[in-house]
Amino acid sequence: MTRKSAGNIVILTGAGISADSGIQTFRGSDGLWCGHRVEDVATPEAFRANPALVQDFYNRRRRQLLEPSIQPNAAHIALAELEKNWRGDITIVTQNIDDLHDRAGNKNLIHMHGELLSVFCNKCETRFHCREDVTTDHVCANCQETGTVRPDIVWFGEMPYRMDEIYEALSYCDLFIAIGTSGHVYPAAGFVAHAGLNGAKTVEINIEESQVASVFDEHISGRAAETVPEYVKQLLTYPDI
Ligand code: OAD
Repeated sequence: MTRKSAGNIVILTGAGISADSGIQTFRGSDGLWCGHRVEDVATPEAFRANPALVQDFYNRRRRQLLEPSIQPNAAHIALAELEKNWRGDITIVTQNIDDLHDRAGNKNLIHMHGELLSVFCNKCETRFHCREDVTTDHVCANCQETGTVRPDIVWFGEMPYRMDEIYEALSYCDLFIAIGTSGHVYPAAGFVAHAGLNGAKTVEINIEESQVASVFDEHISGRAAETVPEYVKQLLTYPDI
């Protein structure tokens, strides 16, 4: 069997796929993330300088994610269908910290930037599932230390999760698709080049061209909730990639 006939697909998703579920993207027209500069809420330095502000910021994001109105949209559901029905491997690598791919049913899923519904202790490194607010006087349930539990989010200056697995999947994929990501943040913005150099076809799906649009073989323009189900239908109907 040749490598091409394996039909392995890597799908990188960003904030744009969850925009149609009602979650704000990172880089709005005002350049702020929910009213904050990213460096004030998404760096280890920010957490050390003002842990209350950072915990409050993620508490509000977590509460929003758990509102009944926030649900997977047609794009998340289509990708879960693709994983169930596709002949090769589907690996979803998401930069999103929401759990909408999980809820839609994708199993082979890498949360490279962490998860809003997870926290960990800076001292004993134990991880906990978390659906509640975390305050600065929170006591770690494992080591009993106070104020050491932080959001399980990869902040700027920290290493994204599971990079070895991601590069392995990128090296062996036949098709790389990026959905709803602006291409501002590396290493994710460099995945298209890595997949392309290893022989994959590369497709970008976005409402506008990203920073790295010129590196892709093909661009599909439109809202993820409309374009992704259509694209998945095409793939399942004509599975020769
Ligand atoms: P951005 O907010 O930078 O980009 C969102 C992209 O989605 C933009 O290119 C939009 O044009 C596009 N978009 C918006 N609505 C869309 C829709 N309905 N359908 C399709 N596309 C749409 O978000 P990311 O690229 O995900 O990192 O940001 C990458 C990382 O930067 C985040 O994971 C986060 C942030 O700092 C960390 O928190 C570590």
